Amino acid sequence: MVNHPVLGIDIGGSGIKGALVDVEKGTLIGERHRIPTPQPATPQAVTKVVEELRSHFDYRGKIGVTFPAVVRHGVTHTAANVDSSWIGADAAGSFSKATGCNVQVLNDADAAGVAEMAFGAGREHDGVVFMLTFGTGIGSAVFTEGELLPNTELGHLELGGREVEDWASDKVRKESDLGWKKWAKRVDRYLQYLEFLFSPDLFIIGGGVSKKSTRFFPYLEVTVPVVAAELLNEAGIVGAAYVAGRTIPS
Ligand code: BGC
Repeated sequence: MVNHPVLGIDIGGSGIKGALVDVEKGTLIGERHRIPTPQPATPQAVTKVVEELRSHFDYRGKIGVTFPAVVRHGVTHTAANVDSSWIGADAAGSFSKATGCNVQVLNDADAAGVAEMAFGAGREHDGVVFMLTFGTGIGSAVFTEGELLPNTELGHLELGGREVEDWASDKVRKESDLGWKKWAKRVDRYLQYLEFLFSPDLFIIGGGVSKKSTRFFPYLEVTVPVVAAELLNEAGIVGAAYVAGRTIPS
């Protein structure tokens, strides 16, 4: 069987990145291409960039796209860190129309989690696995026996009277100039709360901080095993392409 690459696109607050993905191996084929996220990042402006990326790769086929919000059946329903005009927007419909391709849109943490489960730190892990991404916000992807429960949004859980994302994201660490130890204590408090609520078997920590795990893992006291994500900044692209490759009919 000839395995066609699938185009994966990762929509973030500062950049929109695309690459062709070998969805059997979970690896990129060739270079990533990055276009700065337009400001304001309205559905119309972002849709234009998605089509620019498709045309850059001169690609026709299935496309998987990540978006940092709740995405149900292609429609974006929240906008914690994106332009509020995305609430209720038919993202998959607009991207499909602009590109002339079938497009599947999914939450960014869900996409990264799917990639880690298939090709990275979650490989061969059954049971209940939580992937958490620490960046501008905190994203979550929950798996049980390898199956994703989408759109869990656990970064918005309230703990200590405030949303966790507002005091434990990587953005807060940088902006408040927190030392690794101080920030790790916050992450630990959050992980222990998730352990209390869900009794997971494994935490996978993703986002930019996954490269720096040796700086803060030693301070974590939560009893559930914690591992760093392995696909680094490719996880979203790989996961989106992988899901699109499997769910969009040929
Ligand atoms: C959003 C999530 C997203 C996470 C990481 C949160 O603010 O609500 O949908 O997965 O940030 O980008």
